Amino acid sequence: MGKNFNTQQGEGIIIEGKNMSEIKEIQKERMEKNVPELYRCLICAHEVSAPAKPNRCPFCGANIEYLLNATEYYQYELGSLSDDELEDLETTLELEISNAVFYQEAEDMTEDLEIESYYRYFRRHEGYHRDEIMDILGVDDWETVDVELLELPGDHEDIFEKSIEIEQQAISFYITARNRTDNETLVSIYSALIGAEGYHTEFFDYLLNRGQ
Ligand SMILES: [Fe+2]
Ligand SMILES: [Fe+2]
Repeated sequence: MGKNFNTQQGEGIIIEGKNMSEIKEIQKERMEKNVPELYRCLICAHEVSAPAKPNRCPFCGANIEYLLNATEYYQYELGSLSDDELEDLETTLELEISNAVFYQEAEDMTEDLEIESYYRYFRRHEGYHRDEIMDILGVDDWETVDVELLELPGDHEDIFEKSIEIEQQAISFYITARNRTDNETLVSIYSALIGAEGYHTEFFDYLLNRGQ
């Protein structure tokens, strides 16, 4: 059985099959044996093994509060969603698809390996956002979704500017969608997306202005 989404660690989270003292025991033993912790992301469900919790999920860009120790991991449940909530998720999916394709095209066209790394990194984040929303909506293949794709500008500076614009458009939609739902799990998902897209915006702002 799933749980309601709750990123406030320790509050409202019931760990299936393990109580807190068992979890503390496991974590203590790990530390004593110097075994890196395994963390898992509530948004994209990917695992990351590291000596300390990273600031962000390396797969989807969700920030640290969405990463749980594997011992504490649980699956959230959304419950039933209204037509308006579903419609906002459909718009979210369209944004994530078009932004993922945009970065994919940018990645494919560049021969600069450093710049390619940024596009790849953001393309992967958007891809995991897309997959998460597809899961919620029960969409199997994103290519079946009718999306108007963005035109890729010809040089990097224009791509950076366009990237900031599309990230800001996504953020502003997610803020609106977050404000009009009272489903706490959806609120958390939109907050994670807003945080990740904001992080992308900061990166592009840096790229656009560096050396100046
Ligand atoms: Fe993630
Ligand atoms: Fe995204």
